[in-house]
Amino acid sequence: MLNPKIEKAFNEQIQKEFNSSFLYLAMAAWAEEQNLPGFGHWLRLQADEERLHAMKFFDFILDRGGHVQLLGMDAQPESWDSLEAAFEAVLAHEQMISRSINDLYKLALEEGDYPAQVLLQWFITEQVEEEKSAEEVLINVRRAGDSQAALYMLDQTLGQRVAGGTEGEETA
Ligand SMILES: [Fe+2]
Ligand SMILES: [Fe+2]
Repeated sequence: MLNPKIEKAFNEQIQKEFNSSFLYLAMAAWAEEQNLPGFGHWLRLQADEERLHAMKFFDFILDRGGHVQLLGMDAQPESWDSLEAAFEAVLAHEQMISRSINDLYKLALEEGDYPAQVLLQWFITEQVEEEKSAEEVLINVRRAGDSQAALYMLDQTLGQRVAGGTEGEETA
């Protein structure tokens, strides 16, 4: 039987992960409208990953005999002032998600829910990567500055990201 406090908090985290997916998909559309297909590709894969994050909580709740609730999704922005502003938003979003995961871990400790702690340890490690990759793209966007040539190269690099990997930003 799943602890009701954990169940409620995990359902809220499912909502946050789907909102993350939705945010990155909105950003992918915007990037592609700006003729930045590599950024679009990177963001589409990021959106897919966030969906998988949501599904990890979804599956955990069901495996523990809990009840899944799909809460409402937020409307997302349609545009950003610049690529730098967009990736500042990505980084801020990931930092917010990390705080949320840390709060869940604290709750799982307080409630003595060991299986939840194990699941959350995966997410704690994942968030280190998530913040790192968001920061790397942001740094490279800032480096490219107003140079169309540098931006083109960065777009090409991000376009090489493969599903489940982070090649795009590691070689950027
Ligand atoms: Fe996530
Ligand atoms: Fe994320």
